[in-house]
Amino acid sequence: MITEAKSLLISRTALRPAIGVVLGSGLGAFADELSDRTVIPYAEIPGWPVSTAVGHASTLVVGNLGALPVAVMSGRPHLYEGYSPAQVVFPVNVLHAFGVRSMVFTNAAGGIHGSLEPGELVLISDHINLQGSNPLTGPNEDLLGPRFPDMSEAYSRHYRELAKSVAAELCIFMPEGVYAGMLGPSYETPAEIRFLRTIGADVVGMSTVAEVIAANHMGMKVLAVSCITNMAAGLSDRKISHEEVLETGAAVRDTLVKFLRMVLPRLEQDEL
Ligand code: HPA
Repeated sequence: MITEAKSLLISRTALRPAIGVVLGSGLGAFADELSDRTVIPYAEIPGWPVSTAVGHASTLVVGNLGALPVAVMSGRPHLYEGYSPAQVVFPVNVLHAFGVRSMVFTNAAGGIHGSLEPGELVLISDHINLQGSNPLTGPNEDLLGPRFPDMSEAYSRHYRELAKSVAAELCIFMPEGVYAGMLGPSYETPAEIRFLRTIGADVVGMSTVAEVIAANHMGMKVLAVSCITNMAAGLSDRKISHEEVLETGAAVRDTLVKFLRMVLPRLEQDEL
């Protein structure tokens, strides 16, 4: 199925991007930045899961950012939608087959660390997989990567350094933090948030970890940024709602777009 999906992409666009971007809940605006765009609805790509979450556009956009070809996923599948771990990482597998070697993931997340506020961006330095599954279970695809992939630098240190210098140049506050990946779809309880804080998590969300595991397995380099859309459960008097998550995502969209526009060409240069 990966081969069929890859063939479809090759038949639709002459561009061959080396960088892929995944835009999380409410963060789809970056796709509009691209020129020479080919927009491919997920439903038209063989085997590609169609994300049903509100706030996700469900299109793959291949286009140029200046002179740099990129493949941008506007919306992603989640485990909580009922997709298997293999389905959740299928798009990353296809982008890899298509020639993508660096992935930039964005997501909406709750802030656990006391200093984080809604509207801030956090550079993910590491993750804790609490989703109860791993996309690499089952027979290993030896052609893609090793049975037991190393995860000690799952989020490229060098990419994080590049991201920090871009953030500094743009005067964007972007601290590093550890992402706890939960299954969802219910938000956490205050007791779960206290637990997550104790085990070293700074932010919490319901995506990204499976894709990052698959990307590392295939030797891709990863950069990931969380948009803090709310304070995690129990840290404020407010209840958490998906509407609030989408609203805050929309409010930081311009900052995220500026950041991506500047950081992607540097990741590309890094590969030369
Ligand atoms: N918890 C889990 N996922 C989330 C949150 C949260 O507080 N906010 C946005 N996505």
